[in-house]
Amino acid sequence: MNKNSLLSVQDLSTNDIIHILSDASLFHVSYSDWQLPCSKALVANLFFEASTRTHYSFESAELQLGCKVADILTSASSVTKGETLYDTIKTLEAVGYNAVVIRHPRDEYYKELEGINIPILNAGDGKGNHPTQCLLDLLTMQQEFGTLKGLNVLICGDIDHSRVAASNKTALEEFGSTVRFCGPKEWEREGYETVDFDEALPQADVVMMLRIQKERGAAMHGLSDVEYLQQYGLTKERYKRMKETAIIMHPAPVNRGVEIDTELVETPKSRIFKQMSNGVLVRKAVIKRAFGYASFEEKKG
Ligand code: CP
Repeated sequence: MNKNSLLSVQDLSTNDIIHILSDASLFHVSYSDWQLPCSKALVANLFFEASTRTHYSFESAELQLGCKVADILTSASSVTKGETLYDTIKTLEAVGYNAVVIRHPRDEYYKELEGINIPILNAGDGKGNHPTQCLLDLLTMQQEFGTLKGLNVLICGDIDHSRVAASNKTALEEFGSTVRFCGPKEWEREGYETVDFDEALPQADVVMMLRIQKERGAAMHGLSDVEYLQQYGLTKERYKRMKETAIIMHPAPVNRGVEIDTELVETPKSRIFKQMSNGVLVRKAVIKRAFGYASFEEKKG
């Protein structure tokens, strides 16, 4: 496996994360004053699952860095004839692609790809990992609070099916923040500290709401959307009890009126669209790293 691949946040040292966030902070959302040399920059995006933010922010980042981008239509590839994921990626490597971005419904699909030499950037694997989402979440919190240490982060909702919850817990605890969880009992995960939403809410610096992932089998436990919102969601009443300095985050897509009241999606405390913009910055930094470039800070030192 290429050492510059990004498969999970667990593979990154604290220093790696600091460097990625530092590079991301120096990038811009809609233009780039740093470009990859053309000879290196042929990138294939393979999304075996639907995606708006991750797919198109990777593509935006790639294009702005000067990459040539192939959006592989997975339904029109030989995957439909039974080709293995390994053979698909090995073929892309053989025909000249320099890096691949992959989203796949199978947990840790990348374990099948040990023999691939070009960098693999994981854009989400099943219920497993979503490293660039975690990095953009960290960047958003760092911009807000100036640090990732000592934050009180409350993650609410469909913990069980979430690749965001796991990645954020690992990384934030590493930096010295406290991460606690709330939501329906059926979605709790072993080893994750669970708290009562209403009791924990006034102390939280970050309230991160998670989407109910019906495509992964999450059921509403007999609750209507309104009932779910009242019991487990961020309502306008709960919003009033948030700390003055606290922010709302959500990886999106948002089920408006289910995990969050639709009027709160763009309130002053919400960073939901900021997170999406930060996705471009982080993905630029991760692509730069994938091609073997030291962070701007390391280069200076
Ligand atoms: N947050 C996230 O991964 O969104 P998409 O599924 O739209 O990429």
